[in-house]
Amino acid sequence: MCGIIGYIGKEKCLPKIIHGLECLEYRGYDSAGVAYINNKNIIINKEKGKIINLKNNLNLENESYIGIGHTRWATHGEANKINAHPHQVGKFTIVHNGIIENYSELKKMLEKNKYSFKSETDTEIACALIDYLYNKEKDILKAIEKALKTLEGSYALGIICSDDLEHIYAVKKTSPLIIASSKFGNFIASDVPAILEFTNKYYLLNDAEICILSTDKLEFYNQDLKNIKKQIKTFEGTYESAAKGGYEHFMLKEINEQDKVFKDTINYYFDGTIKSLEKNFIGFSKFKKIDIIACGSAYHTGLIGKSLIEKYANIPVNVEIASEYRYKKSFYDKKTLVILVSQSGETADTLAALKKAKEDGIKTLAIVNVIGSTIAREADEVIYIKAGCEIAVATTKAYLAQVAIFSLLAIYLGYHNKLIDNDDLKEIFKELNKMPSLIKKTISKANNYYDIAEKIYKNNQIFFIGRGIDYALCMEASLKLKEISYINSVAYQAGELKHGTISLIEKNRVVIAIATDEELINKTISNIKEVKARGAHVILVTNTNFAEKFYDDLIIVQKTHPILQPILTIIPMQLLAYKVAKNKGCDIDKPRNLAKSVTVE
Ligand code: G6P
Repeated sequence: MCGIIGYIGKEKCLPKIIHGLECLEYRGYDSAGVAYINNKNIIINKEKGKIINLKNNLNLENESYIGIGHTRWATHGEANKINAHPHQVGKFTIVHNGIIENYSELKKMLEKNKYSFKSETDTEIACALIDYLYNKEKDILKAIEKALKTLEGSYALGIICSDDLEHIYAVKKTSPLIIASSKFGNFIASDVPAILEFTNKYYLLNDAEICILSTDKLEFYNQDLKNIKKQIKTFEGTYESAAKGGYEHFMLKEINEQDKVFKDTINYYFDGTIKSLEKNFIGFSKFKKIDIIACGSAYHTGLIGKSLIEKYANIPVNVEIASEYRYKKSFYDKKTLVILVSQSGETADTLAALKKAKEDGIKTLAIVNVIGSTIAREADEVIYIKAGCEIAVATTKAYLAQVAIFSLLAIYLGYHNKLIDNDDLKEIFKELNKMPSLIKKTISKANNYYDIAEKIYKNNQIFFIGRGIDYALCMEASLKLKEISYINSVAYQAGELKHGTISLIEKNRVVIAIATDEELINKTISNIKEVKARGAHVILVTNTNFAEKFYDDLIIVQKTHPILQPILTIIPMQLLAYKVAKNKGCDIDKPRNLAKSVTVE
């Protein structure tokens, strides 16, 4: 999710590049850098962490009119200054968004040809390859064209060369890159928001096309290096609508990103073999008890984690709300692992719980989204989810990625504790591979969930019921609905209804029942019949087909291995909440009274 910006023109480049980087922040990043031409030299500045760190070390008024900038979301190699972009090898300096898949074989070839590398990145290899080809071809355009034929994977590149300080070169394959033009110069950018302050005129670069940018000219070439003409486009929307990538709300955009988020998160720890899980999670196998501490939706992922780890790995798990946990007596000992779950990594109560566990000498693990956040830094161990920047206050993609991590942990611990055997593993891995497309398919059925939302959005009270892991899902589904639609929604354990809450069931009361757990499904059906008999309007969310119709509306979720099922089941609940809130005209991305990151107690 790196971001690229570049400018060449009549005005100073650094203020524009920094502004562009700030507009690309929403993509998520963990370091930032620029390369600019000053007095015929290419100067590189990069810093770990926020753009402000980079800005503080730059003189924006530098007499520089050509530059490229980058925000990096770490893939190859950790988030540090050395791995940050731009990278420079020989005569070339580049910024890159994407992944070079054949970088290790290219690295070997380049090392044989006397290249050495400072960083762990695939980008530095791509840069060296262009330099190597340039030394052979003696022509920048030809070198880039040859590199295009050699590099496998996805990439967008912004390139400057010390032999040609009057141009920026741009090329892409799969990863996005636009070329924008204005009266005072030309730009490259990963996305429209980065250039909207300066111009709304842009060209879309197609795969394998190369653009040479000058101060007052743009030249486009196809992969045979033939000069081509391209159609200029005009962006009519605002900055905010551009950042939303065409979606009406950030929440909807983030829901739609979940197949990719799942893939990015899983692929970071798992390469298709149990060995990769062993390598990443071996340190967690020695604990006899786990405490999961979090707030809000992150607490709900902890409930899913408890269900999965207890069932598949036979390790007792205690899940607690951080604001309670921090003040209560804890019964942990040296065999307890305390897991803190947090999207932002800054939630005050979760941080306090982490500090308490650390003071007591207990081992801590943080499952966090924001790289370099306080919780990530202070915990003994950290597992990053790869959800990217989440803007909507109500979390969706970060929740899904946290659940994915708990699924992986349960798989690994279950295998380690010999409760999951090789045959089970085969079956689970097969399903894991299918998940991104199943997630996509589940999202694509949004209209089915929206039809149901139409029927229920005028209610002022909605119940969610479920058992076991389905109850944990109900907790999140209910929170999602209430926080963005302001409908009073409550989640109950289906079997507990008859001890009080069933007195609230009356004619047309909406009850959403989640029933996916094979072992408990028949019990839940009995509870559904109890509310149905009292006039409830029942919406059944299930992965099973029933001959008997004991519900009013049905949401069918694709069946997968139970260790992965929650990941699919939550999606219709997110989209249902979204549509209900939309119908009610609520401020979906910024619900009243709520904050994305709660840094006060
Ligand atoms: C706030 C947000 C929730 C989030 C909770 C915990 O209440 O609105 O969406 O689940 O904080 O945040 P964290 O960043 O620790 O996951």
